[in-house]
Amino acid sequence: MRVTIPKLQERARGGEKLAMLTCYDASFAALSDAAGVDMLLVGDSLGMVVQGHDSTLPVTMADVLYHTRAVVRGSKNALVLVDMPWGSYQESKEQAFRNAALAMAEGAQMVKLEGGALMVETTGFLVERGIPVCAHIGLTPQSVNTFGGYRVQGRGDDAASRLVADAKALEAAGAAIVLMEAMPATVARRVTESLSVPTIGIGAGVDVSGQVLVVYDMLDIYPGRKARFVKNFMSGAPSIQAGIEAYVKAVKSRAFPAPEHAF
Ligand code: KIV
Repeated sequence: MRVTIPKLQERARGGEKLAMLTCYDASFAALSDAAGVDMLLVGDSLGMVVQGHDSTLPVTMADVLYHTRAVVRGSKNALVLVDMPWGSYQESKEQAFRNAALAMAEGAQMVKLEGGALMVETTGFLVERGIPVCAHIGLTPQSVNTFGGYRVQGRGDDAASRLVADAKALEAAGAAIVLMEAMPATVARRVTESLSVPTIGIGAGVDVSGQVLVVYDMLDIYPGRKARFVKNFMSGAPSIQAGIEAYVKAVKSRAFPAPEHAF
């Protein structure tokens, strides 16, 4: 029986930290499941770490559906959430529903949309129609061309307040989880304290409800540049399974992220 969204929200309310990891295939899904990962994200990071592109922008809905099928087949406990790729949801809320429905039909339990205020209406539209949404704010990699690089977001009072306001609006629209990428830990804590739904951080410090990392980064498989917030959990681990178990343990015990992984 897979973990449900209410169950995850209950765990977070009880003070348990949630461990999320990206996943793209059945073998890693089985290992992550056995290691106790709460949520498997079929991330569009697959465009970089699996397909070899230099951004997530070339990933298509067909790519995401292919990997979703494999992850669902390989796991039985973790909640599976799926990244909506670039161009599959920004045009209209109807387009977002059509594509998100395809992911749900493959066994996904939730979709993730990048964007703050701009995604409020789409989030409400999907949630009202039975598609749970994880909002993704802060550094949203699909907007790399707008940001001019993979830059930390939310620095300065105005930018920080905008992130808090965006998160509150997304929660009010029905987002069940808010994921925050690359922002000062103080801002992520402010957002978390402003919401009643769980928050998941990546480069957002320890004062959030849970963490996510790209599995190819934390196992030191991806040869490209590593962000400051990545820790190599393969170092000293006798197997991939043990590396993932070490990640889950470190998240649950608040040992990860340490101050050196935060902004
Ligand atoms: O695609 C992905 O891997 C993600 C994480 C970085 C959160 O969105």
